[in-house]
Amino acid sequence: YATRNTAIPDDEKGYKLDLFCVPKHYEEDLDQVIIPHGLIMDRTERLARDIVRDMGGHHIVALCVLKGGYTFFADLLDYIKALNQNSDKSVPLTVDFIRLKSYCNDQSTNIVKVIGGDELSTLTGKNVLIVEDIVETGRTMETLLSLLSECNPKMVKVVSLLVKRTPRSSGYRPDYIGFEVPDLFLVGYALDYNEYFRDLSHICILNENAKEKYKV
Ligand code: IMP
Ligand code: MG
Repeated sequence: YATRNTAIPDDEKGYKLDLFCVPKHYEEDLDQVIIPHGLIMDRTERLARDIVRDMGGHHIVALCVLKGGYTFFADLLDYIKALNQNSDKSVPLTVDFIRLKSYCNDQSTNIVKVIGGDELSTLTGKNVLIVEDIVETGRTMETLLSLLSECNPKMVKVVSLLVKRTPRSSGYRPDYIGFEVPDLFLVGYALDYNEYFRDLSHICILNENAKEKYKV
């Protein structure tokens, strides 16, 4: 029989909330745990190994896409650091942070604005690893990639913890994917709904009541 791959199927039942520790203030808001924290960590450890194998020949600049990417970024870098300090070969690793904001012009156009971080020109000649939490339509990442390419980095790779299976996708696929997920709204492990749920360790499915409750 087939073993599981990283694609979580549409009919995934997930885990009952009371099997794991979930903050009391979110108990009413979540349907189920879809990716427990431990599984995220195990998958991240392997992504770190694959990334170092492919990019480890040259100085890596890890670029965190805020805010949603910060937990994954921190954990992924810890695993990359562990590889760096426990092998005969190692490469310098530096970090940078950017924040992206998308503005919707009359519903159809997506303009993605870069806020903060060093000048993108510091990335010239570097191996850049973009670290993102989730890719949905792919437009954010495609825009960032086209901005970056103007600075002539030596190499650009994208790692996204999650990729959503959705008909709204542009077809864009990151170089490294933690898990492919169903077309549902997910929260936890820094993924938010109006800034809530970043303080939840597991990736969970938000229920309909909560969407109303935290609406702005
Ligand atoms: P896109 O790939 O340009 O459509 O945008 C992806 C961005 O939308 C991500 O960086 C997230 O900030 C946000 N996003 C998409 N799906 C979810 C979700 O299920 N939960 C939380 N944020 C999401
Ligand atoms: Mg994001």
